[in-house]
Amino acid sequence: MAATFIVDFENFFILIILCLFSFLCYHFFFKKPNDSEGCDLPPSPPSLPIIGHLHHLLSLLLHKRLQKLSSKYGHILYLRVLNVPIVLVSSASIAYEIFKAQDMNVSDRNLPTNEGSLFFGSFGFVTAPYEDYFKFVKKLITTKLLGPQALERSRGVRADEVNQFYLNLVDKAMKKESVEIAKEAMKLISNNTWKMLMGKGFSERGEVERVRGLVAQTDVVSKKFFVAAVLRKPLAKLGISLFKKDLVSISCRYDELLEKSLVEYEEEHNQSSEMLDVLLEACQGEKTAECKITRNHIKALFVDFFVAGTVTTTNSVQWTMAEVLNNPKILERLREEIDSVIGKTRLIQETDLPNLPYLQAVVKEALRLHPPAPLGLRSFREGCKVVGFDVLAKTTLIINWYAIMRDPDVWEYPEECRPERFLSSSQEDEIKEEVLKYIPFGRGRRGCPGSNLGYLSVGTAVGVMVQCFDWKIEEDKVNKEEGRGTMTLTMAHPLKCTPLLRNPNLLPSIL
Ligand code: HEM
Repeated sequence: MAATFIVDFENFFILIILCLFSFLCYHFFFKKPNDSEGCDLPPSPPSLPIIGHLHHLLSLLLHKRLQKLSSKYGHILYLRVLNVPIVLVSSASIAYEIFKAQDMNVSDRNLPTNEGSLFFGSFGFVTAPYEDYFKFVKKLITTKLLGPQALERSRGVRADEVNQFYLNLVDKAMKKESVEIAKEAMKLISNNTWKMLMGKGFSERGEVERVRGLVAQTDVVSKKFFVAAVLRKPLAKLGISLFKKDLVSISCRYDELLEKSLVEYEEEHNQSSEMLDVLLEACQGEKTAECKITRNHIKALFVDFFVAGTVTTTNSVQWTMAEVLNNPKILERLREEIDSVIGKTRLIQETDLPNLPYLQAVVKEALRLHPPAPLGLRSFREGCKVVGFDVLAKTTLIINWYAIMRDPDVWEYPEECRPERFLSSSQEDEIKEEVLKYIPFGRGRRGCPGSNLGYLSVGTAVGVMVQCFDWKIEEDKVNKEEGRGTMTLTMAHPLKCTPLLRNPNLLPSIL
């Protein structure tokens, strides 16, 4: 009798566990959000039981997978991953409507924030909600670092680095060595970013290599975060924290490096960074700051700048050169423009760019075809209507910038590199047409604050390479296959070519 009771009790216990488990599964995975009943949600492609559309998000070329999905099922789609609602937008007119009517409503990213981490952590700027901290820092970035006047003040810093970039390439040309364009560009961009933030260059060679290594690692990890960001809620409910080990390790190494540099900055007084001064002042609370800032906020902000600014700009330089080298007519026209505006005795500078419309058009066209950040991730704060469909509060918004910039409905010959298209069109044309078809820097309150710097950096780097060198590539054409498994749009086969000095007369005048 006693034995039967024990068995029954065990069965009962197992039954309770099973009930609890089924309830949790139902609650987390199957149950539709209550408020979706009776709503007219956007159309939804066929989905799998339990996981919904998760399999699409696990693709290694996510922007392309989502582009295919929208060309088959529609430009606005409702996706479900477990019980997480997502709206996917892939059209220029719907993007226009969202940023015109709902910009404020989609100004949060609602990304997972890992306590204490400097990268994707609770101190971050990119992850910050659209509230006081974000607004304070955004104002600071615009006035002290990346706005037009701030960029004018830091022009000298970047000019020195461009000279160094040129001299490195001259050295390779003399030795007849090949260069990896992305590596050379990364040196230029990371040195510039560090100097602009810290008010001086890296203090030792090892430091710069460590930062570059960290940025590359961060880029690989951030791809995983896209999925983690979408699955944030159900995973958190189940107590699962993805990639914590990677995060802690990367964050500690950034912390070590940045703390050392901040201490040097405070102690040595031989460097000056307007933005860092304001941040440190706010951190020490000497003046009444608009909001409380800690040392971790400053470090996390600098990590965000490195992650958001260097990889994107470096990839743009690489893709632009790939398009130029694959299109001899574009190269020829670029050279003609640069030679006629600048001549052959001095090196191109940032201040020349407004007089080089074709170069600007080439950079824009490369950014259209190969946006370094191909997908935008936001979240709807409140429920609303988008093109007549209901969207619930807290729905994740994915905007496929890549698909929009290759949409045949708004671009003629969307797959072809035709820089001339940007010689006649302007942003005003888009507003008249009520579309947002050119958006490599995103849009609205959370649009990229580094777009001006991005254009300047890519324009001058490509300008130097075209003005001063001929380029020998190993194959007939550059292989433009896209890299897999990173958050930014990289090249699967990094562009490698050998520079040949084109203009020896330039050498003495700059050295
Ligand atoms: C060619 C170069 C660049 C491209 C294509 C690019 C693209 C983007 C895109 C698409 C976004 C998301 C915008 C959105 O959600 O609407 C973004 C955000 C951001 N970018 Fe850039 N970017 C570039 C260069 C830079 C540079 C040079 C910096 C700074 C030094 C920078 C800093 C940032 C920051 C801090 C954010 C987050 C903004 C926020 O959360 O409000 N970017 N960028």
